[in-house]
Amino acid sequence: MNYKISSIFILLIFFSLTGFAQIDIHQAFAFAEKQTALMLRNVDSAKASTTKADLVMPRTINSGGNLVIISSKDWCSGFFPGELWFLYEYTKDAKWLALARKFTADEEREKDNADSHDVGFKVYCSFGTGYRLTNDPHYKSVIIEAARTLTTRFNPIVGSIKSWNNRNGWKFPVIIDNMMNLELLFEATRLSGDSTFYKVAIAHANTALKNHFRNDYSSYHVVDYDPETGKVIRKQTAQGYADESAWARGQAWGLYGYTMCYRETKNKIYLEQAEKIAKFILSNPHLPEDLVPFWDYNDPAIPNAPKDVSAASITASALYELSSYSTNSKTYKATADKIVKSLTQHYQAKSGRDKGFLLLHSIGHKPAKSEIDVPIIYADYYYLEALLRKDKISKGLPVVNR
Ligand code: GLY
Repeated sequence: MNYKISSIFILLIFFSLTGFAQIDIHQAFAFAEKQTALMLRNVDSAKASTTKADLVMPRTINSGGNLVIISSKDWCSGFFPGELWFLYEYTKDAKWLALARKFTADEEREKDNADSHDVGFKVYCSFGTGYRLTNDPHYKSVIIEAARTLTTRFNPIVGSIKSWNNRNGWKFPVIIDNMMNLELLFEATRLSGDSTFYKVAIAHANTALKNHFRNDYSSYHVVDYDPETGKVIRKQTAQGYADESAWARGQAWGLYGYTMCYRETKNKIYLEQAEKIAKFILSNPHLPEDLVPFWDYNDPAIPNAPKDVSAASITASALYELSSYSTNSKTYKATADKIVKSLTQHYQAKSGRDKGFLLLHSIGHKPAKSEIDVPIIYADYYYLEALLRKDKISKGLPVVNR
């Protein structure tokens, strides 16, 4: 071996030993395409074995090892169409475009479903992503109609969009997850020129900023308000370990939500909030070395508590975007890279197995003993989004392109 070749060889050994080597995005998408083709076959068989015609989207795997398919009403229904759009965005393959359009069409009825705040998740991930990639005028009208539906849940006295109806005796519950729905409103403002959507989004973000956060910038899951006076009644949890604990996915929703609010408004307060949330997450003594958090940062069972891969994939995607606005750019980008690498190397499903999901080990609702240590569609959605964002950064493109 001459000197040059042996130096390269030593460097390669160094990179692989130090874990410095980056993951191969192309390979990760090739895996996602293969798994999604399998998922589509499994969705078809699951549909064939039920009489309920409205069950159309994959969500998770149940304790019997079967694929769980859901109707468009389920809060998770927009993620699979979104993933199909992401596959199309990366590969430009017309096959994924046709499938993305087909599954997105199944979401359309949700534009008028005002039963919860989830209309934002459902319609933005499907139609919003589709519109970004196609400029389809019909998608535009669906986005605007869905945004109108979402604003019917806004109460100006509270200054928030109500998350859920008739649960736990709450009068006007607002969950931190609801920050994610604001993206639909910002998009509808751009598409319609109607600033009402923008004003609702800002009011909601500001109210959450005031009431959802503790001094350490961790967030409560649920804040219940008196709809007549706007006063806070209670601060609690629904899906976390305890009212005063930091539920991992909730922290990720907050990070993503305020980063996106900064993108849409350029209000520095939102950027500062996102950075404070990032600090809470990344300096948490209970955050494992591989940066995939336990399901709740305060579960006393840590380190024997289950992890939540979905919280990690949402965090990675958010950190890529945050890296494009912050002076701490390098740290956020390197951290997102490390999360994506952990997910790809240690949490991926087996090729040709796991019903076509991409990632294992998420938690849906631990207190309800539901969806514990399973693949979940939204973990996969934000993982693909993170991979796309990583790819765009490496090509010098804007992380979020319109
Ligand atoms: N938005 C519900 C959840 O994160 O589980």
